[in-house]
Amino acid sequence: MSRFEAAGDAFLSASRSLPRRESAADRGEPMPDYLTQYPANAKLIYLPSMQDYLPPKNDLKAVIVDRRTNRRYDTNDLLTVEQFSWLLWASQGMVKYSEKTGLTLRNVPSAGSRHPFETFLLINRVKTLQSGLYHYVPQEHAVYLLDDRPEIFQAINASTFNQKHVINASVNFIWVAEVYRTSWRYIERAYRYLFLDAGHVCQNLYLAAESEGNAVCAIGAFNDDAANQALSLDGHEKFVIYMASVGKPTQS
Ligand SMILES: Cc1cc2nc3c(=O)[nH]c(=O)nc-3n(C[C@H](O)[C@H](O)[C@H](O)COP(=O)(O)O)c2cc1C
Repeated sequence: MSRFEAAGDAFLSASRSLPRRESAADRGEPMPDYLTQYPANAKLIYLPSMQDYLPPKNDLKAVIVDRRTNRRYDTNDLLTVEQFSWLLWASQGMVKYSEKTGLTLRNVPSAGSRHPFETFLLINRVKTLQSGLYHYVPQEHAVYLLDDRPEIFQAINASTFNQKHVINASVNFIWVAEVYRTSWRYIERAYRYLFLDAGHVCQNLYLAAESEGNAVCAIGAFNDDAANQALSLDGHEKFVIYMASVGKPTQS
């Protein structure tokens, strides 16, 4: 009996090393956008600047030691916009954009600094923000509302097999991978980087939440097709790669 899975092994074999073939970058094909694209008429809601913000628990060692997944959230608690802003800043906040290279630097590492993710937020309870599905615009540190129909909640909740913490969370983070941002340069090797990059993003979310007294539950158990359909993604060029719920824990 072999102790590996054929489908997983095929992926590993196909992406074993940096490709010897020319990449789209080598061929001089236009570089993808590394800044978030959003509709011209989007009503941006600017989030508080995090420049001078210090979280209540500002002790890295304690934050690392105390971080725990927690799935039981206080459904009466509302996240403040400062807390919400902190979570976005820590997980995908942009610290630099280079006009010369077209690349961004953020508060998480990313292979080749491609930063292939768009962040969507399914908000249940954040003060001053109506509930709904939002999209984050890192270069503006702003969000805008995409959809506030009950159906969007039902569709996203269902894609996670209706995990209770998703329904009870103050906010759910949904990270969408845009493959070409990384594959433009790394071809099939890019797919490994997408998943590695996603781990950093969620870990920073965990640590940021812990530092402000909130908790996170990473979500890998979702149905790809259902999640992609909920967000109108084709599942190939763009797909939901990872999610996480956030809320005030009712017990440690
Ligand atoms: C990639 C990944 C996927 C996960 N998916 C789920 C999930 O779908 N539902 C869930 O309740 N917990 C999920 N978790 C949380 C783990 O169960 C949790 O991290 C683990 O029990 C260890 O606990 P700790 O985070 O407190 O150290 C996931 C964690 C990771 C890293």
